[in-house]
Amino acid sequence: MSETSGAVGIIGGTGLTTLSGLEISGKRTLETPWGAPSSELTEGRLDGQPVIFLSRHGNPHRIPPHEVNYRANIKALYDAGVRTVIGVNAVGGIHPDMGPACVVVPDQIIDYTWGRAATFFEGELEKVTHIDFTWPYDQEARHILVQAAADQKVAFAGFGVYGATQGPRLETAAEIRRMERDGCDLVGMTGMPEAALAAELGMRYVCLGLVVNRAAGKSDHIITMEEIELAIEQGMSGVRRILEVSMAGLGALTDLPQPS
Ligand code: HPA
Repeated sequence: MSETSGAVGIIGGTGLTTLSGLEISGKRTLETPWGAPSSELTEGRLDGQPVIFLSRHGNPHRIPPHEVNYRANIKALYDAGVRTVIGVNAVGGIHPDMGPACVVVPDQIIDYTWGRAATFFEGELEKVTHIDFTWPYDQEARHILVQAAADQKVAFAGFGVYGATQGPRLETAAEIRRMERDGCDLVGMTGMPEAALAAELGMRYVCLGLVVNRAAGKSDHIITMEEIELAIEQGMSGVRRILEVSMAGLGALTDLPQPS
């Protein structure tokens, strides 16, 4: 067993390529049957809790959402002993209450992505497997993050439907209107298939979203990189604080029974 077995996994997205505050004890390069993960695994402790950090878009940030090897990322964390994963995602806000720098802990997903390697269950299989995905995010982990967000007094929403789009382009205003009609509250490009792959391996998975812009057509201007960078600057310290104060609770969650 590795020293960090039982560690909480954090997958950092745009704006979280490295995790300041992490007392780093080592770095590991892992290969998986699905290829190499986006970055080396950084092992260490956050608020005393063993953590393994992985940068979803690589370090430096260079892998676009549709080219992330989600299978390698999730399998590498699994092989390193991680059973609880927090996916940190920059998102666009569709719901009027989800403006820039708001932190969102979504409870549901609608998947609009296509052409991504989205399952471990393919190839030479002994049997066909359909995992239950009714509640895509782990409810206990969600409650811990929501409580932490409330305690940190950051602007947050403890619910929301995450609409996962293909990218790398942002959406049209009509696409966002359709997503709103579908019930989406926020939009991002990296939430899927990450969540489903974690579920396939029986891991707890939770999303911590940071709204970095109002979604297309939801403000009086087009979306600019400047506003996104500003929202990251304003909101990422809240995300880091939430991560820090959630660690003990997340680390104490016991493993889920493994899928048969
Ligand atoms: N759309 C999709 N993904 C995003 C957005 C958006 O508006 N903002 C940040 N990630």
